Amino acid sequence: MLKQLEELKSGALKELEAVTQAKDLEAWRVRYLGKKSQLTAVLRGLAKLPIEERKQVGALANRIKAGLEESLEQKSQLLKQAGLAGAGGEGIDITLPGRPYPAGRLHPLTQTVAEICDIFVSMGFQVVEGPEVEWDYYNFEALNIPRHHPARDSMATLWVDAETEKGERNMLLRTHTTAVDTRVMEQMPLPIRVVMPGKVYRYEASDATHVPMFHQIDGLAVDKDLTMADLKGTLYEFARRFFGADRKVRFRCDYFPFVEPGVEMAIECLVCGGSGCRLCGNSGWIEILGAGMTHPRVLERSGIDPRAYTSFAFGMGIDRLPMLRYGIDDIRLLYGSDLRFLRQF
Ligand code: DAH
Repeated sequence: MLKQLEELKSGALKELEAVTQAKDLEAWRVRYLGKKSQLTAVLRGLAKLPIEERKQVGALANRIKAGLEESLEQKSQLLKQAGLAGAGGEGIDITLPGRPYPAGRLHPLTQTVAEICDIFVSMGFQVVEGPEVEWDYYNFEALNIPRHHPARDSMATLWVDAETEKGERNMLLRTHTTAVDTRVMEQMPLPIRVVMPGKVYRYEASDATHVPMFHQIDGLAVDKDLTMADLKGTLYEFARRFFGADRKVRFRCDYFPFVEPGVEMAIECLVCGGSGCRLCGNSGWIEILGAGMTHPRVLERSGIDPRAYTSFAFGMGIDRLPMLRYGIDDIRLLYGSDLRFLRQF
């Protein structure tokens, strides 16, 4: 009887070895561990055996049963892992191609920032960022805009209510990325060539052309003997690369407290090509940035000697650029998170 049981066991294991599909595994279980199996019959018949034999046969039969159950479980795991159990409708069919996972993409503004930075990086500029919550000093004072200066009126400011020890409210949400200029000049070794992209804030109601938070990028170069020609050459090259090689560019005088002289740069209207339309207000030109030679007082305040070094700076709104390029007529679309809009870029 004992020998018979051992044979039963080795036969069962050999057969189990050969099983490659989950449905065959079930047949194997019925044959060797099921109610009508030989093993079950032996266990049922134990009572009829003489006591000595009953002990021996009982112990062995139970051990074999436990062993077979364990082997079955192991085999079943193995088949699952191999992913081959699928033929019976269970498990994973590893021959099936994967489902494509919907990938996101960069927001059109992020794409624009990256494109602008790439252009300036290729001209030797470095990209740096400054804080969005800023001191009055960096946003205004250091840029020749003291308290009560009329230039403050043009930048409706969001103030942060935290008071200094003297009871003053000196903290604000920066109104332009020009606020980073002084921080850079205080910290970086000369010569400097940087662009400074980021979010800026103004206390304004939203409409098709205004939102209280938007994007700007400023640029700053400080070196020996930089002139207006370097400023124009740099911005002209940027316009060529961003808007196309034959896009005309116009510089005109403008006033910004932190530059002298100051200019504004416009490009030929992208819609009418210069003949005049609604977009350009019939002028044929679209202003895209302010620029100038950094004011000597601004350099001095950051510890740079304006007799030894000169500097040019520029700053532009980023949101207008994809709007012009793609004909987007409402700035709020850029901040609405509507996937039907965003998926187009
Ligand atoms: N910060 C100005 C604004 O927000 C734009 C600007 C003008 C930046 C002239 C400059 C500059 O760096 O030189 O309107």
